[in-house]
Amino acid sequence: MTPPRANRYRDHWAGELRAEQIGEQPRVAGWVHRRRDHGGLIFIDLRDRSGLLQLVFRPEEAAEAHAAAGRLRAEDVISATGELVRREEGTVNPNLPTGEVELAVSGFDLLADAETPPFQIDEDEPVGEELRLRYRYLDLRRERMRDVMVLRHDVVKTIRDHLSERDFLEIETPILTRSTPEGARDFLVPSRLIRGSWYALPQSPQLFKQLLMVGGIERYFQIPRCFRDEDFRADRQPEFTQLDLEMSFVDEDDVFDLIDPLLQRVLALGGIEVELPLEQVSYDEAILRYGSDRPDRRLGVEIHDLTEVFRESGFKVFRGAVDAGGVVRALRARGDFPRSRIDKLEEKAKSLGAKGLAWAVVEDGGWRSPIAKFLSDDEVARATAAVEAREGDVILFAADRADVAAKVLGGLRSDVAEGEPSGHDIFWVVDFPMFEWSEGEGRWDALHHPFTSPSGDLDADPGTWRSRGYDVVLDGWELGGGSIRINRPDVQQKVFSALGIEPEEAEERFGFLLEALTYGAPPHGGIAFGIDRIVALLAGRDSIRDAIAFPKAASGADPLTGAPSPVDERQLRELGIKVDAPPGS
Ligand code: AMO
Ligand code: AMP
Repeated sequence: MTPPRANRYRDHWAGELRAEQIGEQPRVAGWVHRRRDHGGLIFIDLRDRSGLLQLVFRPEEAAEAHAAAGRLRAEDVISATGELVRREEGTVNPNLPTGEVELAVSGFDLLADAETPPFQIDEDEPVGEELRLRYRYLDLRRERMRDVMVLRHDVVKTIRDHLSERDFLEIETPILTRSTPEGARDFLVPSRLIRGSWYALPQSPQLFKQLLMVGGIERYFQIPRCFRDEDFRADRQPEFTQLDLEMSFVDEDDVFDLIDPLLQRVLALGGIEVELPLEQVSYDEAILRYGSDRPDRRLGVEIHDLTEVFRESGFKVFRGAVDAGGVVRALRARGDFPRSRIDKLEEKAKSLGAKGLAWAVVEDGGWRSPIAKFLSDDEVARATAAVEAREGDVILFAADRADVAAKVLGGLRSDVAEGEPSGHDIFWVVDFPMFEWSEGEGRWDALHHPFTSPSGDLDADPGTWRSRGYDVVLDGWELGGGSIRINRPDVQQKVFSALGIEPEEAEERFGFLLEALTYGAPPHGGIAFGIDRIVALLAGRDSIRDAIAFPKAASGADPLTGAPSPVDERQLRELGIKVDAPPGS
């Protein structure tokens, strides 16, 4: 860190004092990290953001300071000065950057008392998350959180530098706005001035960034907060931060050429080295081999398609699926697979939509399996070869519609993988279908969003359209996604109709965008990344909550401030709102 401006509290960062400064009289300030009393001597580890420095209080040299230090407690705030001295032989701490020195305190000021904290700051003991979030300001004092906040700053700064060097303008877009269609539920804010009307908090700046392109900005970026009222997961927050960007007069390759080196720079901050260009994997290949459009390829286990092997099969489950236009696919697993483990896998398969999970163990060149009696030797031999199984391996089968088989086997990969994944794996997923069929709604849904440019024959069935969208996947997490956009109103209308959005509804919801597209919109495209996800992955954390200073708990509430909370009757009256449900229901 740059040395602080000298004032009455400090003239050096505690964690940056070194043996070269021995003999100087620095002043440092911070928190009492730990106190130890040793045969008349008192040692205090003083902590500031830069790290720790050992203070020593000697009764014979500074009687007053020594006496007062005896009353200091953990997390008290002090400012101390004295002579920086070399630690005695045998007491040097090689694990601490300041481990060769200590400050022989001549005097100190107690600046603030601290109550006993609800958990220890000086230990890396696991603390319940509810408690950490309730006292987040104490949690932030811990090294783990400090490090992640520093990393987060470095990530954001690197992004700003990279894009500023390339003529991108950082522009803010509204928080109080209209619903944006990223597919989640909106958070709504009632308007007092226009009663009965509501703002929606943006799920992303998607429409505004497109309007900025129509506005001739050419290259835009922003680190915006986005709001989505979604169900909770480790990699989701209702309020999260994106890197959002958009460029005009570009194709996919222009976006990849911009993003590849940016990701290389950002990932290097977490010690992850990647070679460029980043690999591109087609959506179809990802689904076929891994059963997911954001696979963790480090798991190793791959899906094998056995449809051709079983096309004429005497086993009616397989034959039936193939005859119905479906597939037979399989995972090959190594390791110990007692019956109880297979039963658990079948249970999970069913929860993912499978009708069953046929299995076989390769034994003496043949199969030990409840379905072996239905199969010919030729089928067994060809399937064994196709999945590259050897003696003792287990083969797990899904016979179903292609998308169900992919989802089921993709979902089981992590259960049958050997060992923990190591290293890192990053790649682009490209060439998505434009739509996926939503069984529940009985209509097409956009895989990205309705502003993504379709490709292919737009007079053919929408199920055949491809999209100009792309995602970035790191270690099984979707880091970012984007697309080349539609820049013509007729194409935009066509996509809306394919999605079942009638012209009146399109006009009502997105009329302002459709209108903007009539005034000469350049071809444009862009992408957005989840900053919280990037930081969590770089820091090796399981949850993005660890990458956010003040995240929401699993319930969606903030244990620190108590938000969300009921409001005054008067506030509600002003807004013309009546609450039906009792608070907390
Ligand atoms: P998308 O919806 O894919 O695209 O979001 C982009 C990235 O934002 C992150 N993300 C989240 N992070 C934490 N919590 C959440 N609830 C959450 N939801 C999304 C993910 C994701 O990849 N407007 C488009 C981008 C574009 O087309 O340019 C969009 O928002 O890392
Ligand atoms: P059944 O003929 O229904 O008794 O099924 C025989 C075996 O095939 C059982 O192990 C089932 O779990 C399995 N099975 C049933 N349906 C499927 C399917 N669609 N895909 C894979 N395995 C299945």
